[in-house]
Amino acid sequence: MKVTVVNHPLVQHKLSLLREADVSTNKFRILTEELARLLAYEATRDLETEEITIEGWCGPVKVRQIKGKKLTVVPILRAGLGMLNGVLDLVPSAKISVVGLARNHETLQPEPYFEKFVGRLDERIALIIDPMLATGGSLAATIDMLKRNGCKQIKAIVMVAAPEGVKLVNEQHPDVEIVAAALDSHLNELGYIIPGLGDAGDKIFGTK
Ligand code: URA
Repeated sequence: MKVTVVNHPLVQHKLSLLREADVSTNKFRILTEELARLLAYEATRDLETEEITIEGWCGPVKVRQIKGKKLTVVPILRAGLGMLNGVLDLVPSAKISVVGLARNHETLQPEPYFEKFVGRLDERIALIIDPMLATGGSLAATIDMLKRNGCKQIKAIVMVAAPEGVKLVNEQHPDVEIVAAALDSHLNELGYIIPGLGDAGDKIFGTK
């Protein structure tokens, strides 16, 4: 099973607070953003850099700056929106591509009802954000859509992953790295991650 679990103490502490049954909408939203920021830091660890010379206060100085491909952040509606600002804090100039998926009741497969991608996906690294990687169907479908539109480098940032979802995405898209705060036990019969967080979308938006 290929998934990068970020064991940083801040990540694990914030995740523990998100797991509390009586966490308020406000707290859940803030923690989601904070966690997304820390996970994005980890997910961007291998961005390519180059050495350049700039004019510093005491003369020319060699520095390193990010080079090469630009990023697009890809929130999956609706819960992915809760992570968006946290990621943008780190990469404020990233362009945003949005995907909405709904389950087809006959085929039980996720089908896109909304997609708006930025241009030249072939020149960008896509960072997909979705708090919960459950069955993996939505994430795999989003990766399919990005690849069909030319994207060649994709990572997924999730807060909690289930083994079932990681397995599916690993099988269908072995080139895609998944960065998570936790790999939990399993999915229950309703498709919720156990122990998980409950319905992350409802908790971020305050709906039930
Ligand atoms: N989506 C959620 O919000 N929570 C789960 O546990 C699974 C899918």
